[in-house]
Amino acid sequence: MKNKSLVSIVDFSKTDYLKILSTAAEFEKNSYQNLLNGKVIATLFFEPSTRTRLSFESAINRLGGRVIGFTDSSSSSVTKGETLYDTIRVISNYSELIVMRHPLEGSARYASEITQLPVINAGDGANQHPTQTLLDLYSIQKTQGKLNNLNIVMVGDLKYGRTVHSLLMALSEFDANFYFISPDELKMPDEYKLHLEKTGLSYHESRDLDDTINEADIIYMTRVQKERFSDPIEYEKTRNAYVLKNDMLKGTRNNTKVLHPLPRVNEIDIGVDMNPKAYYFEQTENGVYVRQAIISLILGLKS
Ligand code: CP
Repeated sequence: MKNKSLVSIVDFSKTDYLKILSTAAEFEKNSYQNLLNGKVIATLFFEPSTRTRLSFESAINRLGGRVIGFTDSSSSSVTKGETLYDTIRVISNYSELIVMRHPLEGSARYASEITQLPVINAGDGANQHPTQTLLDLYSIQKTQGKLNNLNIVMVGDLKYGRTVHSLLMALSEFDANFYFISPDELKMPDEYKLHLEKTGLSYHESRDLDDTINEADIIYMTRVQKERFSDPIEYEKTRNAYVLKNDMLKGTRNNTKVLHPLPRVNEIDIGVDMNPKAYYFEQTENGVYVRQAIISLILGLKS
């Protein structure tokens, strides 16, 4: 992993995922370690973020590093017409590692081809969100005690949801059984279903969450993302498709956990927050340890 960019989850191997998870577990026990010793890391967010940016920044601070960057590209020279190429070339002179979120699919790959520095994709459009996937894997392993042969029910916007795309690719290494629950307009894209078929893994598609919820080890809820729709009428048609409520969890397995990358709008009723099966806030904490592990391994500060 040393000096490698993390643009797509498939850039790393199953062995790499497991190494990141075991390193994250070490950071969970001892989070404050001065491994970066003042090194500078750039966080470039061309799109809004709460968890990804702040958990990266918390991770860098806990490792004794310093952060430069922007939270809104309108405060950068992009507003004057500066290209992504020039922006990345310049910031490469100021830091050791670039963490970038951008609305365009492929932007993180492009950035990684411009610079000698490792680039970590913090989300590129509807494409990939690999660090979210690694914290999801960590959360799944922590709550289920394993990663293999689990029933994963993915719910909501499976078309534009970059978190479910990355997670599907990673969990296909662990023989997951997938259940895709979405409105017709937001179905899992064919390329991901084709990948499962080639891998010999099963998946089931349905519009109805009641069909499969009692089979779930993990219920992975997602938000219908207003910002990805070009047609507001399409968004209005699908935005309230699923709302998870406590009574829907009554027949679920004892080990079932509800995950969500967050932010949520209304797809999980706030009454579920106190349910022992809700795990989405703990999931956000896991993001700090996992991002500490990713940074340390990529920069060769841990091996
Ligand atoms: N999960 C996630 O990517 O959240 P943010 O958009 O707040 O970073």
